[in-house]
Amino acid sequence: MPLATENRSRWILLGLCIAVAVATALATALLLNVRERQSEAKKPFVALTQVTEDTTDPATWGVNWPKEYDSYKRTALQTKTTFGGHGGSEALPQEKAERDPWLTRIFAGYAFSIDYRDRRGHAYMLQDQESTKRLTKPQSGSCLHCHASIMPLYRKLGNGDAKAGMDATYKMTYQETHAQLNEMGHAHPVACVDCHDPKTMQLRVTRPGFIDGIQKLANSSAPVPQLPSVQQWRDGKRDRPYDPNVDGTRTEMRSYVCGQCHVEYYCSTKMPLTFPWGYGLRARDEEKFWNEQKFPDGSAFYDFEHKETGAKLLKAQHPEFELWSQGVHARSGVACADCHMPYMRDGATKISDHWVRSPLLNINRACQTCHHVEESEIRARVETIQTRNHELLERAAVAVTDLLDAINAAKARGATAEQLKPALELQRTAQWRLDYIAAENSMGFHAPQEAAMVLGESADLARQGQLAALKLETPGQGASAKTAATRP
Ligand code: HEC
Ligand code: HEC
Ligand code: HEC
Ligand code: HEC
Ligand code: HEC
Repeated sequence: MPLATENRSRWILLGLCIAVAVATALATALLLNVRERQSEAKKPFVALTQVTEDTTDPATWGVNWPKEYDSYKRTALQTKTTFGGHGGSEALPQEKAERDPWLTRIFAGYAFSIDYRDRRGHAYMLQDQESTKRLTKPQSGSCLHCHASIMPLYRKLGNGDAKAGMDATYKMTYQETHAQLNEMGHAHPVACVDCHDPKTMQLRVTRPGFIDGIQKLANSSAPVPQLPSVQQWRDGKRDRPYDPNVDGTRTEMRSYVCGQCHVEYYCSTKMPLTFPWGYGLRARDEEKFWNEQKFPDGSAFYDFEHKETGAKLLKAQHPEFELWSQGVHARSGVACADCHMPYMRDGATKISDHWVRSPLLNINRACQTCHHVEESEIRARVETIQTRNHELLERAAVAVTDLLDAINAAKARGATAEQLKPALELQRTAQWRLDYIAAENSMGFHAPQEAAMVLGESADLARQGQLAALKLETPGQGASAKTAATRP
């Protein structure tokens, strides 16, 4: 090999060695940095302070998890959207009946006709319950199931058995139960310990009402495409009850934690708190459950007697978990937390936004992670769903109030209770559907087609009831009214 060429090769070799060394060093540094950041991101927490099952004060947890705690505290801030949001710290939210006067009429004779307001942030849940004028009528201690960090009291009342503890509260007064909670020092709104295992920080559900309800659903044969672990349990040995904390997938847990409270329920003094999930989660399934339910004395279940007509009616409560379960998002594995607690970046860490609120205040993180379209377009799509749902809701409300007028008129003309029976039954079933979608808080968004169907049925059933009552007009034609009233 000529000398010049040999020299050049040496230099090239040396250069190559240096390049490799530099590249290796760089790669190692990068790797170390990534590792460090990854472990930073993965590191569950630096346990600066000990938290246990009895640590209900979120401030204590905030020592270990300051970022989540900071966002949690923001639920006290005022927010507002067209159909969602609420009043802020300075005033109570608006009365729903100011917007929709028909609410006062359909709830005549019931506490909801006295005071029924818009919801607001989690920070206020206990305070708003303490101050509602609905408490001027006797209320059950079970009301606290969804408005306070109640588990230590349930364990105490049930000698360690939380379900027994919960069941003990329905006969206690609200005031007595609240006083005990105060005494134990646990009078906080929904707290970290209600959704997280203090040892592992894993998501978990705690509320006995939910656990009982989801077991009823698992034991039924209602289709559950949105909850694959329930189907898996059904297909398995069934040698133990479905346990959300063991069987639930991480995706399901991200909705189950909210399903502890954002659901239809019975909560009063005649029987323990009940989630009506024995036939499934649709409005008609829950109605069937209530229609077959008996009070302990054997009489038929109802929530209240309508002051004008005397019909024994159902009251629907915020069925967000149920309506969501009928929508395309649930079917696609999109959980409550995806939209209401989206991830936010904080350095290398991704944390869940604990400022639970309307996703429309946060479309970028709540929706655009999946929907790669303009924010204005996403907003317009939601608005289209909500305004159409709202129009249909108002129409169904006119139909139900027309039915009340027709029943009152028939009564004034001397129609007997027996003659009025079909119209009163139709009032119950039509009003249930109207109330169901009115009480659900997404204005149809969580499952637009299911909501439209329920409202369409409501209007139809109300008009059938009106016809039945009108036919009682001419004496002698009362008998035919009974057959005219068909059921869905
Ligand atoms: C795909 C996204 C998405 C999912 C999943 C979702 N929501 Fe919503 N939710 C919305 C939107 C959009 C609204 C309407 C907000 C508005 O009108 O300001 C809403 C409204 C609400 C409201 C009323 C909010 C307010 O500001 O008044 C509650 C409560 C709620 N959802 C609870 C739930 C629960 C509980 C679940 C799961 C069972 C759930 N949502 C699943 C998008 C979602
Ligand atoms: C299964 C859970 C659950 C139970 C039990 C429960 N609530 Fe609530 N409550 C909620 C949820 C979720 C909201 C927020 C959604 C809404 O306002 O529609 C709410 C909202 C409220 C509000 C604010 C809005 C309004 O309606 O004026 C009051 C007051 C209230 N509840 C009182 C009570 C009383 C009194 C009881 C007992 C009869 C009770 N709650 C039982 C879950 C529950
Ligand atoms: C322990 C019961 C409980 C649990 C668990 C719970 N909520 Fe709530 N939530 C409430 C109550 C009660 C209110 C109404 C508070 C008020 O009006 O004072 C409320 C209000 C809301 C609102 C309205 C906020 C606003 O700014 O108007 C949204 C949205 C919401 N919850 C979503 C969720 C989601 C999503 C989850 C699960 C991650 C969840 N909640 C878990 C009881 C609960
Ligand atoms: C209503 C239920 C609920 C409450 C109350 C709640 N969290 Fe969470 N938290 C969640 C959900 C949902 C996630 C997402 C977990 C997942 O997907 O695995 C989460 C995640 C976390 C994580 C994991 C890291 C992250 O941010 O994703 C930490 C830490 C945490 N929460 C701390 C807290 C603290 C501290 C409090 C009380 C101040 C609290 N949480 C209250 C529902 C809740
Ligand atoms: C984790 C992913 C994910 C998130 C977050 C998400 N979506 Fe979706 N969205 C989907 C999927 C999947 C579908 C079904 C589309 C399909 O399969 O073609 C869908 C469908 C829709 C539809 C049409 C279906 C219907 O119900 O009418 C609308 C509107 C919509 N999303 C709006 C939103 C809004 C608004 C948000 C934020 C509040 C949001 N989405 C958040 C995944 C998501």
